[in-house]
Amino acid sequence: MKFGIIGAMDLEVNALKDKMDKAVITTISSVDFYSGKINGVETVVATAGVGKVNAAICAQTMILTFKPDIIINIGVAGGLSGEFEIGDIAVATAVVEHDMDTSPLGDPVGFISGMNKVYMDCDKELSDVLLEVANQIGEIKAIKGVIASGDQFISEDTARNRIKSNFNAIAAEMEGASIGHVCTVNNVPFAVLRAISDGANDGATMDYPTFAKSAAKNSVRIMLNVLEKYSNL
Ligand code: ADE
Repeated sequence: MKFGIIGAMDLEVNALKDKMDKAVITTISSVDFYSGKINGVETVVATAGVGKVNAAICAQTMILTFKPDIIINIGVAGGLSGEFEIGDIAVATAVVEHDMDTSPLGDPVGFISGMNKVYMDCDKELSDVLLEVANQIGEIKAIKGVIASGDQFISEDTARNRIKSNFNAIAAEMEGASIGHVCTVNNVPFAVLRAISDGANDGATMDYPTFAKSAAKNSVRIMLNVLEKYSNL
C-alpha cells in the first residue's frame, strides 16, 4: 500500500518529510515530491502550495508519476462547526468546492459539471481510521463531516455562514476538494484530515497566524499514528 500525502504549506507536511527514510526528491512542475518509507510504509509526500489550482497540479502529477493507492490531504482549516476548539480535528466524509457556482444557469451551488455532482465522497475505510486514531489522542476532539474548499481565506461571518448553510460543512480550507476532484476523476481513493487553526470568522486573521503551526502538528501526529497502524497490517 502506497500513501500519497499532500499539504498546502511546508508547516503542514515538513515534519513528515523529516521522518522519511532515505527520501528521494523528484521535482516536477515546481513541486518537490519526497518518496520513501515513513514508519515502514511506502509514501510520497508533497507541499502543493496554497489554493485549488496548486493542489490539482500536485495531485494529478502525484497520481500519474508515483501511482499512490490512496491520497490524504492534511493540514489546517477554519472551523465552521460550533463544536470545534482550536487544535481539534475535522475528518471529511465528503468534500465540496464552495466557490464553484453556475447557479445562475440553474445548477445547485457547488455543482461540478462533467462529474455532475456537488459532493465528492471520501474513502470511508481510511476516514474511519483517521477519526478513530484522532479520537485516541486524548486532549483533542475529532468530528467528521463535509469539508468545503475554495480559493479564499474565510475571515468574515457572512462568508462563513454562507458556506456552512449552503453545504452543511464543518470546516473550510483551500485545497481538499480540489484534491478530491482530481482523485475522483482518476478513480483514486482519498481522505482529508484537517486541524482547526481558526473559526473562519472575524477573528480568523488574528487566530490563524497564532495557531496554524501548533494545529498543524496535530494533523501530522495523527498521520504518523495512522501510518504506524498500517505498518503493522
Ligand atoms: N485554512 C485555515 N483557516 C482557513 C480559513 N479561515 N479559510 C480558508 N482556509 C483556511
